[in-house]
Amino acid sequence: MLLNDIQNAVIQVQSDIALGPVVTHVTPAEVRNHLTSRYDFTKEVPLDEVIADVEGMLRKWQVHVTHPRYFGLFNPSVTVASVVADAIVAVYNPQLATWSTSPAANEIERHTLGWLGAKFGFPADAAATFTSGGAEANLSAVIVALTRAFPEYGEHGLAGLSAMPTFYVSGEAHHSFNKIAHMVGLGRRSLRTVSTDADLKLDLNNLTKQVAEDRRKGFAPFLVVGTAGTTGAGVIDPLPDLARHCRRENLWLHVDAAWGGAAIVSPTLRHHLDGIESADSITCDAHKWFSVPMGAGMFFCRHADAGAEAFRADTSYMPGKTPGPVADPYTSTVEWSRRFIGLKLFLSLAERGESGYAGMIDHQTRMGQVLRESLQRTGWRIVNNTPLPLVCFTRDGLDLDAFLAALYKHQIAWMSQVRLGGGAPVLRACITSFRTTEQDIRQVVEQMNQLL
Ligand SMILES: Cc1ncc(COP(=O)(O)O)c(C=O)c1O
Repeated sequence: MLLNDIQNAVIQVQSDIALGPVVTHVTPAEVRNHLTSRYDFTKEVPLDEVIADVEGMLRKWQVHVTHPRYFGLFNPSVTVASVVADAIVAVYNPQLATWSTSPAANEIERHTLGWLGAKFGFPADAAATFTSGGAEANLSAVIVALTRAFPEYGEHGLAGLSAMPTFYVSGEAHHSFNKIAHMVGLGRRSLRTVSTDADLKLDLNNLTKQVAEDRRKGFAPFLVVGTAGTTGAGVIDPLPDLARHCRRENLWLHVDAAWGGAAIVSPTLRHHLDGIESADSITCDAHKWFSVPMGAGMFFCRHADAGAEAFRADTSYMPGKTPGPVADPYTSTVEWSRRFIGLKLFLSLAERGESGYAGMIDHQTRMGQVLRESLQRTGWRIVNNTPLPLVCFTRDGLDLDAFLAALYKHQIAWMSQVRLGGGAPVLRACITSFRTTEQDIRQVVEQMNQLL
């Protein structure tokens, strides 16, 4: 019943969205006036009416990230199974803080994470948890790495350390790390930016130099982040070299594979992630290339004991610990109350199977190649180098802002602009929808070229 109703609704919404606009043009005042004129909450409104109104607002007033012509920032089209999963979770509202309160939900998450952890080459006793997203997973990595490198950190904070910790990301890494440096008390200056090579990959020589220099100056380097699928250009850092470097220098290696991590299920792409099996921890978002609704990140950590130390909690009011090899999530992760995030990935994976997922990922990769080739054929210059379906491109004399404004005005597609390696802005288009077809891409490129 639930499945049929939701399935029909999703199919209907998805086909309506595909035929409608991608981009919205609305002012804050318009949305606010709509809300204040209807909802002061002094009188009741029939639920059907409110739902219809909310759906109307969402249809009109959002960039449609599930549109086949949304070539955006890793926000995916979503599988029917994952939408059904979110509805089931809301109905049963399981509390995953402790194992004993929600054994089924906790074990479904554990089973799903165990499967993906094994794909990454992590041992069976590694820790893994769902998170709200990649930023929380990255935050978890920094806290756990700090805790392991500096045993005094947990009790005495940074003030208790004899040297100031520093950590290292490339100039192309995700900017959640700047916020994390701020939030954990390290300060944004403790985050060192490593330069990149001509392909925008983290430059190992520069990393080596900066770590040595920091040590000489009395800092305490503790963590290096390698990105597998950078946000700007989809670049994969040299993971095997990074792993060797970190082992030699006794540094924690965190691989931020928030988007690119899903490539591990594709037999044709997975070799690009070689080296990830040597990481100390990994971020991978289900709500990016695994095509489930937000928020669904994942954090994998080789050192379960370090997570248990970093997030330990002891109370009398929570249900008692379950005997056996079970960590209550509220004592081993950032969150306390915990939604059953993992069901959307579990249900979707169970329905499509690993080969179904590989097919979706390979389809998007092929569409990325079609886009790359169509652009090149018509005089655009591709400026990034990645096996993943993210294309950065430009051409001489292009007024980027005006071009994007025209693209949005004519509802051709949604794509964005980005500066790579500190250079001039270029266009950025990522195939984020498994529903994007070759026909969509040919139409977009043809219409883009008519704007020139
Ligand atoms: C490489 C990378 N890491 C981390 C994040 C942050 O993930 P989230 O937005 O799920 O918090 C992103 C977001 O796009 C990302 O591209």
